[in-house]
Amino acid sequence: MRLALRGGNTLERVALRANLVPTPAAEAWGGIAASGVLVAAVRTGVVARLASAPARTEEIARDLCLAQTPTRLLVDCLIASGHARRSRDGTVRLARRDRRWLDPESEVGVARFVNSCGDYFDWWRDLDRLIETGASVEHHERGPEDPYWRRYILGQLDLARLSAPEVARRLVLPENAGSVLDVGGGHGWYSATLCRRHPALTATVLDLPGSVRVGREVIEAAGLAHRVTFAEGDARYAEFPEGQDAVLCFNLLHHLTESEIPALLARAAKALKPGGTLAVLDAFADPPRPGRVWGRGRGRANAAATHLALFVRLTSGSTVYTPAELQSWLRGAGFDPARRVRSARIPGLALYQACKSW
Ligand SMILES: C[S@@+](CC[C@H](N)C(=O)[O-])C[C@H]1O[C@@H](n2cnc3c(N)ncnc32)[C@H](O)[C@@H]1O
Repeated sequence: MRLALRGGNTLERVALRANLVPTPAAEAWGGIAASGVLVAAVRTGVVARLASAPARTEEIARDLCLAQTPTRLLVDCLIASGHARRSRDGTVRLARRDRRWLDPESEVGVARFVNSCGDYFDWWRDLDRLIETGASVEHHERGPEDPYWRRYILGQLDLARLSAPEVARRLVLPENAGSVLDVGGGHGWYSATLCRRHPALTATVLDLPGSVRVGREVIEAAGLAHRVTFAEGDARYAEFPEGQDAVLCFNLLHHLTESEIPALLARAAKALKPGGTLAVLDAFADPPRPGRVWGRGRGRANAAATHLALFVRLTSGSTVYTPAELQSWLRGAGFDPARRVRSARIPGLALYQACKSW
C-alpha cells in the first residue's frame, strides 16, 4: 500500500508525480487490505505472539493453531507494511516502533482499539445505503449482552489511556471538588484518573447498560470501585444527579443530534453547583482540505476529522460539530464562554471547559 502510493523506485515515483498511477484504485483496494491485516493479526493473536518473542511463521501457526500458509502470508504482509521484521535466522519479531503500540503489555498499547476496528468493515460496506437513504447503523442500540460492547469500550479505553493523564492535569476543578458526573464515560478511565489526582473526588459514570457492564469491570480491576461508580441511563433523557462540582462530556456529543445536545447541556448545568465546571472533550469539524487519512503529509489530521464526521453519521446518525456550535449551545444553557484547553498530546481532539457562575 505504502509502495503503491509513494512509489518504490525512481520510475514509480516519477509516474506517481505525473499522475500516471491510478491512485484511487490503490486506495480503494489497499485501505481495507491494510486495515484487515492489522485487525486479523491482533484478533488471531499473531501480534501478541510476535511481541512476546521472535518466532518462525511455522511456529506461530502451530502455537496458535492457525492455518500454515495464510499465517505465513499474513506475517509477510506485516513485514511488507513495516509492522514486523524478519531476522537473518528466519525468525520474525514485532518492529521496534510498533512494540509501544501493539504489544499487549504496553501501557500505551492500542491493540484493543485495532481489534474494535474489525467491527467497522460491515458498517463502511453499507455507506452507500446511508448516502442513498440516510439510514445509519445505530451501533449503540445493540443489546447489553452483545460481545460488541466489550470490543468497543476496551478499544476506547486504549485511546483514553493515552490522553487521560494530560486531561486530568489540565482540567481545572473547583477547589476541594468532591463529585464529578461523567456522562457517556464508558470505561470510566477519565474519572479514575481524575480521582487519582484529586483525593477527595468521587465519580459517577452514566452510560448505556452495555458500556456500564464493561466499565465496572475495568474500574474494579483498577481497584477504584469505591471511588468510581456507575449508573445505567440514556444521556438523552436521564435526570442527572445534582450537586456536582464537575460534569464531563467526553466523546459523547458526536453521537448525539443537534436537537438532543442543548437539552443535555441544560441538564448538565442544572446538575452543577454554582462555580461548577463542564468539560467537553471531542473531535470538532474543520472545513475539508486535501490530504490523506493515513500516510505522511499535511492535511492528514484534517482528512481524519472529515472522515470521522461521515463515520459518526454512518454509525450514530449524528456528526462532529464546530467549536462555534458548541459555544452557542453552552451560552444557551447559561454557561460562561468556554475556554479551549490546548494540548499537543491529543491530536484530533479538543478540550473545552465552561464554568457555571450562577
Ligand atoms: C466514544 S465512547 C467515549 C467513552 C469515553 N467518554 C471516552 O471519551 O473515552 C462514547 C460513549 O458514549 C456512550 N453513549 C453513546 N450514546 C449514549 C447515550 N445516549 N446515553 C449514554 N451514553 C451514551 C457510549 O456507550 C460510550 O460509552
